[in-house]
Amino acid sequence: MTLTDTSTSAPVRTPSARTVLMCRPSYFTVVYRINPWMDPQLPTDTALAVAQWETLYQTYVDLGFDVKLVDPIDGLPDMVYAANGGFVLDGIAYGASFTHVQRQPEGPAYMDWFAANGYDVRAPQNVNEGEGDFLLVGDSILAGTGFRSATDSHTEISEIYGRPVITLELVNPSFYHLDTAIAVLDDSNIAYLPSAFSAASLAILEESYPDAILVTETDAAVLGLNSFSDGYNVVIATRATDFEAQLRDRGYNPIGVDLSELLLGGGGVKCCTLELRS
Ligand code: ARG
Repeated sequence: MTLTDTSTSAPVRTPSARTVLMCRPSYFTVVYRINPWMDPQLPTDTALAVAQWETLYQTYVDLGFDVKLVDPIDGLPDMVYAANGGFVLDGIAYGASFTHVQRQPEGPAYMDWFAANGYDVRAPQNVNEGEGDFLLVGDSILAGTGFRSATDSHTEISEIYGRPVITLELVNPSFYHLDTAIAVLDDSNIAYLPSAFSAASLAILEESYPDAILVTETDAAVLGLNSFSDGYNVVIATRATDFEAQLRDRGYNPIGVDLSELLLGGGGVKCCTLELRS
């Protein structure tokens, strides 16, 4: 027996209840293919998608989150992925401008919601997919590019919020949004999939977050990183079992939710969640 008890070495984590925006997948289906996860030939079950989404919604309510809802729109099957609807910080909502024509009407739909709910809305000048590619970690905004958001949007967001913006280049089409390749755990900790990044961007991550959790390819392949943390409770894909153990080791409380039906559209927990920061 040694005097070092590793079970007590994990830091104490502090949750803070969040305010989030979600969109019920009433019209969810896969009828086009804009990422490798989507196959319009495969059947989808909208009722199952709604039931799984309700579980995520209830999980957030049980964690004490204030969950707001935006009305789904018939004909916009990807609107359930609310993370892409914009980026909200300091009461300012930076609108999204989607890469693919199929999702472009979602930009104004989300901006209308932000305006109706008292946010200072900034219409985007550049292609960006909201919190899919912009992740706030402490005072910095990690900004993804390579498949969706344009680097010009990184300049735009830095001017809007006056925060440091760190550009990260994604290289694997299966991890096309930054929130599929990085999970924000709290103000200073992240988890990520190293192989999802260019060599230069990986070097930035290694230098900036030397203590980051590195997830397995297997967990990333069920969109395990596409998770939402309140600083202690981390809502993750049920199937990301190694990530679950890594989180526990570090003093977090992982909570598994099964969103297998929404995975058919290439999205998971985080994709369905847009954080509203006042
Ligand atoms: N089918 C959607 C798309 O390809 C999925 C978006 C997932 N959202 C996310 N934040 N990663 O645009």
